[in-house]
Amino acid sequence: MTKIHFISATGIETVIDARDGDSVMHAAILNDVEGILAECGGSMMCATCHCYVDPAWQDRVTPPSEPEAGMLASAASAVRATSRLSCQITVGPELEGLVIHLPEAQL
Ligand code: FES
Repeated sequence: MTKIHFISATGIETVIDARDGDSVMHAAILNDVEGILAECGGSMMCATCHCYVDPAWQDRVTPPSEPEAGMLASAASAVRATSRLSCQITVGPELEGLVIHLPEAQL
């Protein structure tokens, strides 16, 4: 299990224990983290799992693939250099303590 910190757009922090090998999106859904909708279930077709990787973690999380970057362009909130689709980030021990910021809107 890997600890992940989610911080809402209003600053509320939720800490969860995510299963290694799961996606950050799925871990958020399983733990009722508000702010991740994931309407397509993780098939990279919706961008409602948009999140911002904390800048301190940016070097340890791979950048978005080209298709992911294309889908991010349709995200409801501003896309930043730290934007990722949380369904495309795989949880693993190297991400222990990862901090994910949630956008203001997902639709
Ligand atoms: S859940 Fe739809 S793109 Fe991630």
